[in-house]
Amino acid sequence: MVIRKKALNLIRKKLIYYPFHNYNPYFSFLYGKVRFYPFYIWHIFFQIFAKLKFINSFNKLKKNRYTEFFSNNGFFKTSFKNNEIINDVFSYLENEHLNNKNRKRIFCHLDNFFFIDKVAKVDSQFFLYNIDKRYIDNLNYFVKSNKIFDKIIKTYFKSDYRIVNFRIWRYYSRSRENVKADVKAHYDGLPPKTIKLMIYKGFFDKENSALETLDSNGEKVIYKVRGLNPMILIDTCQLIHRAKLPLKDRDTIEITIQPRLFDDSPLFGGFSAGTPINPFVSSKPKII
Ligand SMILES: [Fe+2]
Repeated sequence: MVIRKKALNLIRKKLIYYPFHNYNPYFSFLYGKVRFYPFYIWHIFFQIFAKLKFINSFNKLKKNRYTEFFSNNGFFKTSFKNNEIINDVFSYLENEHLNNKNRKRIFCHLDNFFFIDKVAKVDSQFFLYNIDKRYIDNLNYFVKSNKIFDKIIKTYFKSDYRIVNFRIWRYYSRSRENVKADVKAHYDGLPPKTIKLMIYKGFFDKENSALETLDSNGEKVIYKVRGLNPMILIDTCQLIHRAKLPLKDRDTIEITIQPRLFDDSPLFGGFSAGTPINPFVSSKPKII
């Protein structure tokens, strides 16, 4: 009996990659938690090649308390303090919000990209449908030059990484009239080993957190993102999360990160875009 129990535990541990998952991200469809699209297979092959290419560098990477924390919990929270690049992006959003005119709603700018083209306008969110290249390059530099993020991502992926989407938006406060649609508890349905960096402007506390993670049943709150100007690197495909309507309008930058093989240039899919479909194929601007 004891041996059987031990054997089962061993299998369970092998199937579950990290303690914060209660399922294996590569077999998530077996657990019925996250939808698995057939094109994810491309990503799994891509990750194998990305890992092989990185194998020598990975052996030189030393674990530290940040990488360990991420492996155990699926997130790492810090603050952007008063970073110039981030402040500049938030001013850009502020200006675009003020000049809210003639905004063409483009769901996705690139081909070979998975996106949802039938999203209804949500009353609580003001998205930038286009993002100037300068901000994309600056944000890419911001992530890549952050030594803690860089190490966590490389250790988690066991490969180098690339930014594959940016979203910049204002989440309207609950005090505004007609604002009802909050972001309900969900997993992000993206290929395994896709993580996000979320950056929030403002101060957040227990009653007004920027983001909440929940247990796998979506019942108990595990963690609340609080503090001044917080940012959180998080595996949103493996942790259930939600965002209640904020007390004050909340500006957000969302950066999607995936393993990389060769191309290091950041991609901007669009506000309703998710992930490249086939990562072996380059995603070129759509000819509209
Ligand atoms: Fe999400």
